[in-house]
Amino acid sequence: MERYSNPLKALLTASQREIERLKEQLTELREILEAIQQGELDALINMSQNHEQIFILMRAEEPYRLLVEQMSQGAVTLNLSGTILYCNQYFATILNLPLESLISSSVYQFVAPEDQPALRSALVQGSQEYCKTELVLTSPREGKPIPFHLEFKPLKIDHLQVICLIATDLTEQKEAENKLKATLQEREILLKELHHRVKNNLQIISSLLKLQAENIKDEKLAEMFYESQNRVRAMALIHQKLYQSKSLSQIDISVYIQSLVADLIRSLNSNTRRISVEVKIEEVLLNMDTAIPCGLIINELFYNSIKYAFPGNRQGVIRIELTKDGQSDELSLTISDNGIGLPENLDYQNTETLGLQLVGMLTRQLDGSLELQRGEGTTFNLHFRELPYRERI
Ligand SMILES: Nc1ncnc2c1ncn2[C@@H]1O[C@H](COP(=O)(O)OP(=O)(O)OP(=O)(O)O)[C@@H](O)[C@H]1O
Ligand SMILES: [Mg+2]
Repeated sequence: MERYSNPLKALLTASQREIERLKEQLTELREILEAIQQGELDALINMSQNHEQIFILMRAEEPYRLLVEQMSQGAVTLNLSGTILYCNQYFATILNLPLESLISSSVYQFVAPEDQPALRSALVQGSQEYCKTELVLTSPREGKPIPFHLEFKPLKIDHLQVICLIATDLTEQKEAENKLKATLQEREILLKELHHRVKNNLQIISSLLKLQAENIKDEKLAEMFYESQNRVRAMALIHQKLYQSKSLSQIDISVYIQSLVADLIRSLNSNTRRISVEVKIEEVLLNMDTAIPCGLIINELFYNSIKYAFPGNRQGVIRIELTKDGQSDELSLTISDNGIGLPENLDYQNTETLGLQLVGMLTRQLDGSLELQRGEGTTFNLHFRELPYRERI
């Protein structure tokens, strides 16, 4: 515009060619001006001297203002010290204050003293780059705290650096969140209660078996009752660990196995000090479908080792190890003893007795594979993976 501020001077000093060019430009500018006056133009793109494009939106202010006024979010322009330069009606309504009283007041008045440092740092960051935070704003009039999601963006109006703030009321979202949390908590309590009851019921069955075993004269028969009692107790322990666990659907198998082994040793009532037990279990979380067969297998094999591997006063070690391959997620369970070893003629996959039959069935249930190593004592290796959750109908 500087070039045409004194057209007379320009005309006097210009050459004929320049005069022609200026005339052409003048006609062009006249046409543009006419178009602007007629409302035919929305935008004007101009090439300034240093070739930068200036894009001027015509008649845009009103639609934009309407847009901001219709927003169901608070739109606020702040200066760097937090003074409100502009805000839309929504922001004023939600804070229950007249819009005029908000303009030129400080945004800090809505924030509790302990939250003011957070607001301050958001304003500092927001004057440089986009940032967001959650803060509770309290209207001085009504005093009801309102949780807000606040987004800050730097904005330059002419040469003035300001911050554009978009405030979203989170009251409804928080209420829905709280309701959901309450429902979830209720379900968790129910689930805990359920596991607790299942555990109690299994414990009753276990006690009944024990009582009956005590009345059985035949030692072999009594032992069978006693083993069944152990099996029921191993299952009860899973439910106990489940209601004690955080997730309620997965148990830390290392904690479970430690308790299972301790329980078994305690229940033996005999002197097992000549047998030492080494348990090396990685911290692995398993769902119930996997943990129950896994626990029952340990129960059978560990109990067998205690019962048969060290007859008389023979001393020895029983080892239980569980590792998980980080890449393939395959679990490897080893139960070994350095005792007398399985009878040579015993086909462990084809026994008359229930214990090893159960181990075979449970291995198939786990979709796993079982190997026996006969050497110094007995070693069983079980490879399996956590079973995927099966939808219940
Ligand atoms: N770790 C071991 N060391 C030595 N012998 C073992 C070992 N484990 C099992 N056995 C032998 O294998 C046999 C079969 O075991 P299995 O667990 O199937 O039956 P059980 O323990 O006799 O009875 P139950 O059906 O109540 O378990 C046992 O009777 C025992 O002779
Ligand atoms: Mg057995």
